[in-house]
Amino acid sequence: MVKTRAVIDEYDTYVPGRSKKEITDKYGIDADDILKLGSNENPWGASKKAQKAVAECAIEMNRYPESNHEYLKEKIAQYAGVRQNQVIVTGDGADELLDIIAKTLISEGDEFIVHPPTYTYYEYTFKLYNAKPVYARWDVETNTLDVDSVLDAITDKTKVIFLCTPNNPTGGLISHDDIVRIVEATDALVVVDEAYWEFAEVNNVDLLDKYDNVLLLRTFSKVMGLAGLRVGYGLASPELLEKISRIKPVFSVTVPSQKAVLATLDDKEYIEESTRKSIEEREYLYESVKAIDGLDIYASKSNYLLVDLHDSGYTAAEITEALMKRGVIVRDCTSFRDLDEYYMRISIETHPKNERFIEILKEVIDERRN
Ligand SMILES: Cc1ncc(COP(=O)(O)O)c(C=O)c1O
Repeated sequence: MVKTRAVIDEYDTYVPGRSKKEITDKYGIDADDILKLGSNENPWGASKKAQKAVAECAIEMNRYPESNHEYLKEKIAQYAGVRQNQVIVTGDGADELLDIIAKTLISEGDEFIVHPPTYTYYEYTFKLYNAKPVYARWDVETNTLDVDSVLDAITDKTKVIFLCTPNNPTGGLISHDDIVRIVEATDALVVVDEAYWEFAEVNNVDLLDKYDNVLLLRTFSKVMGLAGLRVGYGLASPELLEKISRIKPVFSVTVPSQKAVLATLDDKEYIEESTRKSIEEREYLYESVKAIDGLDIYASKSNYLLVDLHDSGYTAAEITEALMKRGVIVRDCTSFRDLDEYYMRISIETHPKNERFIEILKEVIDERRN
């Protein structure tokens, strides 16, 4: 057996949301009948303009993609309201950006701060570079960040601080003032993860002109409907991005990805519709779940919601299994640090599918009560 790095020998594989294929294989349920509320995707499909652009570029598949993609950065800069040299685009989604931030900044023994429960990929990625996680606190009850816990966690070894707003999986926001307090208290890079900012209709882009230790992390996987193509982007100071770009995979933003992003950004109507419908469906799910006896749900500014199962008679593992048998995928949150085994996350589906989900959820809850 070839000897692998010690960190790899002890590594736990990342647990993503379940796929439709898993459910089809396990329960024989037709893929079209599955309700997918597990991965915070856009359930209405990609922009028609993006679909057309991807189909049309099939002929270019034999050629390497443009690696510098200035026009792509320019288009994203216009959308985000920044300058082109404040943009970096990545090819395995925003997750790739996390990896290259770690590669650029982390030396063995450096620390990074996270506020569990939050997106687990930060830890998953940074630990690979032998960085040490230091835990601040997200108050689940109030669905807010305990800012002092972040400030208290800062040491001279802190290299990166992750702030997720809206926070995944709780859906709460971090206020602009709280972000400023943290940014001003440190020289470390503050990564403000705005993967879901469109659903919150607020963002922190103004910080970029005031502070050079801020990076906004964003993605085309959510409201933009391109999760399957894997495109992310970051907004930060040109000096930092120039350094990160030195080690960025050269061709990871593929030809179809580039075409799809350009077409989607041209489709303002699609972006507006997706945002509006997502918010409507989020509020529908919130009200509907709140009305079910035995379930509690947290208000959310994103396209997913955290459900508290403590009074339901189910653990998250049990209810996800019961729902899966009926063709529904939700996210068991047991793998999120600082959540016990009684939380699940649901993301939005189209309206008819959300209605069906609520019916199935009521049946499942009733089953335990009777
Ligand atoms: C909070 C947060 N940040 C970043 C990402 C990464 O998104 P992607 O790699 O699909 O761009 C996700 C994906 O679910 C997320 O939830």
